[in-house]
Amino acid sequence: AQTPVKVTVTGAAGQIGYALLFRIASGQLLGADVPVKLSLLEIPQAVKAAEGTAMELDDCAFPLLSGIEITDDPNVAFDGANVALLVGAMPRKAGMERGDLLEANGGIFGPQGKAINDHAADDIRVLVVGNPANTNALIAQQHAPDVPAERFTAMTRLDHNRAISQLAAKLQVPVTEIKKMTIWGNHSATQYPDLFHAEVGGKIAAELVDDAWLRDTFIPTVAKRGAAIIEARGASSAASAANAAIDHVFDWVNGTEWTSAAIPSDGSYGVPEGLISSFPVASRNGRWEIIQGLEIDAFSRERIDASVRELEEEREAVRSLGLI
Ligand code: NAI
Repeated sequence: AQTPVKVTVTGAAGQIGYALLFRIASGQLLGADVPVKLSLLEIPQAVKAAEGTAMELDDCAFPLLSGIEITDDPNVAFDGANVALLVGAMPRKAGMERGDLLEANGGIFGPQGKAINDHAADDIRVLVVGNPANTNALIAQQHAPDVPAERFTAMTRLDHNRAISQLAAKLQVPVTEIKKMTIWGNHSATQYPDLFHAEVGGKIAAELVDDAWLRDTFIPTVAKRGAAIIEARGASSAASAANAAIDHVFDWVNGTEWTSAAIPSDGSYGVPEGLISSFPVASRNGRWEIIQGLEIDAFSRERIDASVRELEEEREAVRSLGLI
């Protein structure tokens, strides 16, 4: 039998964790023929809740689930891990300044990065979901000098999927008609969903919608969808975030011709090297590649630059706090 792949999920007792774990165990993360071993990392106060979720996982009798481990020790959780989904993070509380938020998250993602560095398997792949995702991924990466830098990624796939869904609804076409969607920059309100390279039935999406809709409806709707979900549901996106995490890792491992992911920049498209920024990407042989050669007009340039500037400011802030 195939050796199970060890998948570590942090924040396992949270709401995304609850939506994510069952799908991983059912085979949707890696493929329907790949056995998995789950490792759930939580803070001590939430270990009991994680144990409850593990009881439910047992009760599903998933054929592919070969074991579950629950711990509050990152060194145990990441030991031999092949895939790490870093979901647990410190949320912004009322009155919290950005520096406080980054510092609190530095206290989580620095040690987790080090534990990944010291204990994970050689093929470790890391997806950071917990916000601020891009900068948390940078912090973890900077504490893992022995792991190839490209293995640290952050999630903009939810934004990507939201953009596809909004465009499909506007044009009244099935989501499967939409190709080459791209989210650029930070997973934040400055993100730039790009319709100038997206295609619908072979035509450029931006040419099928009016400029005002693109600028004043589409971009803000995608960028602020998280807040709209909170407003409607009374809780932040969870199942859709879990779904996007599944999509990201599945495509990373199994390949895709075009999606969006925040990966370390190699300087492409004027994004400073090393920033973990969202790009149009393909995945080949288990590696992300930035899709090259796209023409960026002034409208897109301005928006990409604004989001990238925000990432640079976050990097400067964590540097000056000594977090990287
Ligand atoms: P939640 O609050 O329901 O769960 C978070 C869990 O993380 C809690 O169980 C908490 O105990 C745990 N946790 C906190 N610190 C930890 C640590 N040091 N080690 C292990 N576990 C720890 O939050 P939810 O809704 O599951 O969201 C998780 C994160 O995902 C948040 O930061 C949220 O902003 C982010 N998010 C990101 C999205 C994206 O598109 N990138 C989309 C939606 C949410």
